[in-house]
Formats: sequence, structure tokens, C-alpha cells
Amino acid sequence: MLGPVILAASRSDRMRRLISAAPVTKQVVDRFIPGETVADIVPIIKDLTARGLELTMDVVGEDITTPEQATAARDAYLALIDHLKDLGLGERVEMSVKLSMFGQALEGGHELALANVRPVVEAAAAIGTTVTLDAEDHTTLDSMFAIHEDLRKDFPQTGCVIQAYLFRTEADARRLAASGSRVRLVKGAYKEPAEVAYQQKHEIDKAYVRILRTLMEGEGYPMVGSHDPRLIAIAQELAHKAGRKLDEYEFQMLYGIRGEEHLRLAAEGHRMRVYTAYGTDWYGYFMRRLAEKPANLRFFLRSMVSK
Ligand code: FDA
Repeated sequence: MLGPVILAASRSDRMRRLISAAPVTKQVVDRFIPGETVADIVPIIKDLTARGLELTMDVVGEDITTPEQATAARDAYLALIDHLKDLGLGERVEMSVKLSMFGQALEGGHELALANVRPVVEAAAAIGTTVTLDAEDHTTLDSMFAIHEDLRKDFPQTGCVIQAYLFRTEADARRLAASGSRVRLVKGAYKEPAEVAYQQKHEIDKAYVRILRTLMEGEGYPMVGSHDPRLIAIAQELAHKAGRKLDEYEFQMLYGIRGEEHLRLAAEGHRMRVYTAYGTDWYGYFMRRLAEKPANLRFFLRSMVSK
């Protein structure tokens, strides 16, 4: 029951101010968002790639309110890509972006987000890597898929995320699989109404498996975004049945969650990509991590009380 309450708080400015100001918050946040600047994050990128992992980088931020903030988001990604070029790690590290951080919700937002994200996709391609468009709440998805399709005309490697909890996703998966796209499948992290999304875990898990089968049997490149041991085993089985080799799909997990599993899958020869978030506007991302596992919230509250 706690999850929906935390997700509602993730959209509250008052809670944002309260939680961001709490002195212990930073220590708990660091587990999921291990840095605020490029200088903080470069040692982590070097460490994870040295351990045989691939990365996808998220400069945290969403729901910006001015076009200047959208430009700043674009520039933050461009600066990161410059660093990756200097490090020679372009091919091991891709980008994940939230279009709401690129201006999608502002007036004329669809065009603005496309205009801001395109240079990031171009810069990523120039160093041999790519960009994946994260999936946000269901009201943003038609625009996200249209931007994805547009970008793929010039940069076919551009990926997108689909969420198993949404009723629409099985149809989206069939379309994307047929078009040969890179697709990350996740369960879904937002608070969605019963009119558009499954609410029960077992229904979401069943939908995840149906959609994964479509992706594995299709023409695209499936990216299995989950920490769920059962779904990981099923993904391996479905990939095998579909005749996919190890480099024809990949696993993805979030930094700070089941780190030993990242290394185990990489050691088995899988491509294992760690979604690594950094930056200062961490509130929304952090709250979704608390909502996914109530034990995280208990730990957070205990640290506040014990200080
Ligand atoms: P589930 O929640 O059932 O967790 C399985 C197990 O993993 C748990 O039992 C626990 O051990 C561990 N675990 C999971 N979450 C944890 C947490 N927060 N803290 C500690 N342990 C945890 N969503 C979205 O809507 N749009 C997006 O673009 C993305 N992008 C994305 C990228 C990648 C690479 C991943 C892995 C996930 C996302 N998500 C996302 C989030 C996703 O929708 C989902 O909320 C989380 O992955 C949790 O679901 P699981 O599949 O891990 O299963």
C-alpha cells in the first residue's frame, strides 16, 4: 500500500522541499545516485566498465518548467558525451533521457523536446554509442514514440522504453519488434490509474512475460530491464528458444540494486548494462526507488530518526 503514497509524494513540491532538506537524505540517495557532477561520476564509469559492465547514463531531472532548463539538460548530456569521448569509452556507455527534462511538457513541447534531444543523439552516434528514450507517465507516451520514430529515420539505433503495466504495451511491442528497434522492457514505475494499467504484481509479471516473448521472437534488440530473478531466468529461456545469441539481447539493472547479480550475469557472458543516474535534481528518481521497495523507505526513515 505504501508504494502509491510514495509515488504521489514524488510529484509534491512540499515533500520535495522537506525531503531534500533532511540532513541524512544525501547518504541514502547516494546508494542510487552516486554523484552530482561529471567529476563525481567518471571514477564510477571507469570502475564499472573495468568490471566488464556496460552503462547507460541518466542525468537526473524531469518535469522542467522553462525552455532554459531544457537547454541546460541538453548541454549536460553533451558535456558528458565529450568526457566519454576523452575516456575512449563511447561504445560501452549509452545515454538514457527523459523527454520531460527536454521540454516535452512545455508549450510546443513535442517539437522542443525533439529539437533538444536530436543533438544529443547525434553526438552519441559520433562517439559510437546511442540514446534510449525513457518512458514516463502514460500521457507522455504518444509523443515519446513519435519522437523515437522520427529519430530512428537518421539514427536507427535509438532505443525506447516500454512498460509492462500498461494495457497499450502489447500492441506497442508488436509494432516496435516488427520495425527492428532497440527496446527496453520494464515493469513500470509511475502511479497509473486502473483504466490504463494493471494494478496487481502478478498481472504485471504475466504481461511482462507475454511482451518479452514478442520482443525475443521479433526483429529488434530486446533490453531486459528488471531485477526480478524469475523474469531474468524466463528471459534467458525465451532468448534461447528464439535462437538468439548472447550478443542479440541484453540485461539492464539500476545502479545500487542487486549489484552482485550484475557481475554474475556479466561473468556468464551476458551483456549487462547498469543504468547509472547522477546529478542534483534527484528527487523524482529517488522517490520511485523508495516506492519500488518499502524496505528502502523504512531504512530511510530509520536513518532520519537515529540522527
Ligand atoms: P520488482 O519490483 O518485482 O523487484 C524485483 C526485486 O528486485 C525485488 O524483490 C528487490 O530485490 C529488487 N528491487 C527492485 N527494485 C528495488 C529498489 N528500488 N530497491 C531495492 N531493491 C529493489 N520505469 C519506467 O517507468 N520507465 C523507465 O524508463 C524505466 N527505466 C528503467 C531502466 C532500467 C535499466 C531498469 C532496471 C528499470 C527501469 N524502470 C523504468 C523501473 C522499472 O519500471 C521498475 O520500477 C523497477 O525496475 C523495479 O521492478 P523490477 O522489474 O526490478 O521488479
